[in-house]
Amino acid sequence: MRIVQSVSDARDVVRELRAQGKTIGLVPTMGALHEGHLSLVRAAKASCDAVVVSIFVNPTQFGPNEDFAKYPRTFEADCAALEREGVDVVFAPSTEEMYTAGASTFVDVEGVSGRLDGASRPGHFRGVATVVAKLFNIVGPDRAFFGQKDAAQVAVLKKMVRDLNFPVEIVVCPIVREPDGLAMSSRNRYLSPEERQQARALHHALEEMERLARSGVTAARELIAAGEAVLAREPLVRVDYCRVVDPDTLEDLADVRGGALAAVAAFVGATRLIDNTILGRRD
Ligand code: PAF
Repeated sequence: MRIVQSVSDARDVVRELRAQGKTIGLVPTMGALHEGHLSLVRAAKASCDAVVVSIFVNPTQFGPNEDFAKYPRTFEADCAALEREGVDVVFAPSTEEMYTAGASTFVDVEGVSGRLDGASRPGHFRGVATVVAKLFNIVGPDRAFFGQKDAAQVAVLKKMVRDLNFPVEIVVCPIVREPDGLAMSSRNRYLSPEERQQARALHHALEEMERLARSGVTAARELIAAGEAVLAREPLVRVDYCRVVDPDTLEDLADVRGGALAAVAAFVGATRLIDNTILGRRD
């Protein structure tokens, strides 16, 4: 496994792989890897000849009062896990390498970037879209792999790829959960044992919304009220949003009959967690 830190070295190794006729899969990450990330790596390995994983805690997607400084950084363990998965290249640039002094160009996916997490975290998706656009330009992957857990991020990035004609296919992989249902997240490690117990409420709220939708409830208002009631049972959980939206535009839906994304975000203690599920799809 090659570990490269500069943009030019990343371009060189990808050029070598391309010269061997290989297709390239990119898994963008901020490190602190867990099974969710490794499921993306495995999906990339299964459909691409060579896999590049980027590890970069991207400052532009964190708000001034968010957890950039304390975001977990576990580079050695991450590289060991990626080596075991048979990853070809790790691209781990410094902040200065990614954002050269005076950089002032950003990618703003208007509309969708202001919804769900974008409404709670102003500027977040501008930072995500900008860094992912840069990674696409540096690595030039055939496919890029993202987790469904970040459903709003997926909507933003799919639209960016469409709007800006990036020649890359976005592959979305299912949410990976702990045995008790909590969606895997690098931020779960911030939780105290008591918070960790109560964090299951996000999943339970979505399960309740799913159960009601399956039983024939189609009104978003009713489903949301049921989800919020589950979240309200836990004293350490403070709801940020509990919404039923169109999975592509992230606009609120009144009814789930045509298929809908049920998405929740909540602070558990000081830690903000997200989770989601698809409702009302009658396959
Ligand atoms: O999902 C993440 O970890 C990040 O938002 C991403 C896509 C790596 C961009 O920094």
